[in-house]
Amino acid sequence: MKPPLKIAIAGLGTVGAGVLKLIAANGDLIAKRCGRPLFVVAVGARDRGKDRGVALGAVKWYDDAERMAEEADAEVVVELIGGADGIAKRICEAAIARGRHVVTANKALLANHGTALARAAEAKGVALCYEASVAGGIPIVKALREGLGANRLSRIYGILNGTCNYILTVMRKTGRVFEDVLAEAQKLGYAEADPGLDVDGIDAAHKLAILAGVAFGTEIRFDAVHVEGIRHVSPLDIEYAKELGYRIKLLGIARLTEHGLEQRVHPCMVPVETPIAHVEDVFNAVVADGNFVGNAVFEGRGAGAGPTASAVVADLMDIARGDRPPTFGVPMGDLAVLPTSPMERHRGAYYIRLMVVDRPGVIADVTAALRDEQVSLESMLQRGRRPGEMVPVVLVTHPTEEAAMNRALRRIGGLGSVLESPRVIRIEEL
Ligand code: NAP
Ligand code: HSE
Repeated sequence: MKPPLKIAIAGLGTVGAGVLKLIAANGDLIAKRCGRPLFVVAVGARDRGKDRGVALGAVKWYDDAERMAEEADAEVVVELIGGADGIAKRICEAAIARGRHVVTANKALLANHGTALARAAEAKGVALCYEASVAGGIPIVKALREGLGANRLSRIYGILNGTCNYILTVMRKTGRVFEDVLAEAQKLGYAEADPGLDVDGIDAAHKLAILAGVAFGTEIRFDAVHVEGIRHVSPLDIEYAKELGYRIKLLGIARLTEHGLEQRVHPCMVPVETPIAHVEDVFNAVVADGNFVGNAVFEGRGAGAGPTASAVVADLMDIARGDRPPTFGVPMGDLAVLPTSPMERHRGAYYIRLMVVDRPGVIADVTAALRDEQVSLESMLQRGRRPGEMVPVVLVTHPTEEAAMNRALRRIGGLGSVLESPRVIRIEEL
């Protein structure tokens, strides 16, 4: 057996402690599988006195994780602190500069600085591994980069945030309110330190940008992702979705269009009979469309200590074996720079919920705005009759261009009889 792979870990929270537990539990098996043991020589976090449920034994402790990345006698630095900038970025840069491999679960860092970090790693001849940054325990980076590496991919989409999927699932099944379910997801260790990153769609957008980089061999363009979160998804919309034969999911979708690369994260209504509609709780799923493989579906737990540690350790095992494919599937000099396909050019069907005064002429005004923009209606629902009072009216359109939909919505939102901003959810026929 070869000498151990010496590892330094920065950050010992949910994921960091999970990695130590996994190596302690499965170390023998891992050593056999990669021909050398994984050996944690140093750890760094803020509070040395905190009980993390793991024995640190003789592992060297650093109060200053950045110093650890520079000084520790380790071949690999694992960054599990989080944050797009600050100490996480400095640790990765310092480790690469000193010729150490880097493993990280930090999607915010990768989405914002992944291209620059990968260039630096390539120049130094070290690995930058990030399997845990996307879709928790699903080995999707490896699947896209290696397993499906022979294909031209045209689209990838999926449920990329476990917290949001958990919230939407529990709201649908129990009718509980958003804030209550979010607090539960935080207790379970699913949410980011700032849960706004989850519920506002930003975490899913980070992951989508990374996946698009791997899938399409392009520079990561987080700034080009259209992002909407789930805060405005109400129990009423969840009920209407059920009635119309849909489920509401926060999806990330990246696809090549005639205008360039479209990247979008937003709540979607998906037909209840599609597989993705049945991906529930903290589970994530990714679907890839390849020109030879067809449609490939991957599903697994998207957050939490165990699944994330599983992905971090898989990266460590690749490094231990000397398995080092290009960070984004092609050498950095060969990455494509693709134009962004603007959201205004997106074509699809729309669910629109209006809160209107129940009086004659309201629907005529609404449909006139749609008619003038050539938006065709598939169906319309109004439950009950309460003359002079507020009632919900739900419209479902045929596929239309987003620019036309937006113009019609601006006009509809300005009608005196429409009492709240229209609620809009895109319908995805997957
Ligand atoms: P966490 O539980 O909040 O743990 C963060 C760790 O970083 C803590 O141990 C903390 O130290 C340490 N830390 C924070 N600031 C530090 C500093 N200035 N210097 C040294 N150490 C510092 O976070 P987590 O959930 O494990 O997430 C870690 C990373 O994994 C993030 O990038 C996250 O996005 C990513 N991720 C998380 C999950 C998940 O399910 N949780 C899944 C996939 C990816 P103390 O413990 O001493 O306070
Ligand atoms: N907060 C993230 C989620 C953790 O809920 O999906 C996994 O990346």
